[in-house]
Amino acid sequence: MTQRKGIILAGGSGTRLYPITQGISKQLMPIYDKPMVYYPLSVLMLTGIRDIAVITTPEDQDQFQRLLGDGSQWGISLTFIVQPRPEGLAQAYLLAERFLDGASSAMVLGDNIFFGHGLPDLLSAADSASEGGTVFGYRVNDPERYGVVEMDERGNVVDLIEKPKVPPSNHAVTGLYFLDGSAPERARTIDPSARGELEITTLLQTYLRDGALTVQRMGRGFAWLDTGTHGSLLDAGNFVRTLQSRQGMQTGCPEEIAYEKSWITADQLRRISERYKKSTYGKYLLSLID
Ligand code: G1P
Repeated sequence: MTQRKGIILAGGSGTRLYPITQGISKQLMPIYDKPMVYYPLSVLMLTGIRDIAVITTPEDQDQFQRLLGDGSQWGISLTFIVQPRPEGLAQAYLLAERFLDGASSAMVLGDNIFFGHGLPDLLSAADSASEGGTVFGYRVNDPERYGVVEMDERGNVVDLIEKPKVPPSNHAVTGLYFLDGSAPERARTIDPSARGELEITTLLQTYLRDGALTVQRMGRGFAWLDTGTHGSLLDAGNFVRTLQSRQGMQTGCPEEIAYEKSWITADQLRRISERYKKSTYGKYLLSLID
């Protein structure tokens, strides 16, 4: 089995959501003390994925490149791919087809933030399935804003519906998709939706129809945070701040994950922490070595 590869989709129609920050991709804006994209990146790294494609709009690519570099500082490899127009999440698999080269993948949306005790276990279970797909269902108050899981009375998933006016359940599909190597081939067979996008939900339906989709429950002990409005962006920042100051531990810290996984040495970590030494972030990195 080839190693699973990662995709961060940081383009899409939602990237210019805040009218006041036109011209800046929201995934580059900070959630408390680090750029938003660090959080989804950390999820892929926690899964153990080291070969990752970052898909952005043409205008944003150089900023992402400047921020993230080639990934070698974290012992990973980053490839940058442009999505010329926001034509849907499923299009990512077509744009990344050459990069994936038949491998299975984990795709995470650049604005999705996950936190929870047991996250590594959940990720590793999804990672270990070499065929089919795994997505995560999370209970939310406003399912109509998301892809929603429809279940029969036994709790079996019968359908997934994108932004239903009348949601069949409160279980939204999060923006984290573990799919096998057939994803690009499947993406080629689907038609654009009424809003002109290749919907991820339509792609997932092809897996569901083949009996190849696992919808894993992400329970109440997890936080899946939204950054789609000014208020939710601030809430996410406050959440991270509260957690980090209480625990004295970082969440969404690529350096820490890289060091824990021995992808970088203590010397490399020390050099990075030097760069940030005036901040709590830099001091935290240094404390990992001592
Ligand atoms: C997208 C997907 C939706 C999913 C959501 C997760 O919606 O289309 O199925 O639930 O991401 O964040 P978007 O926010 O891009 O409209």
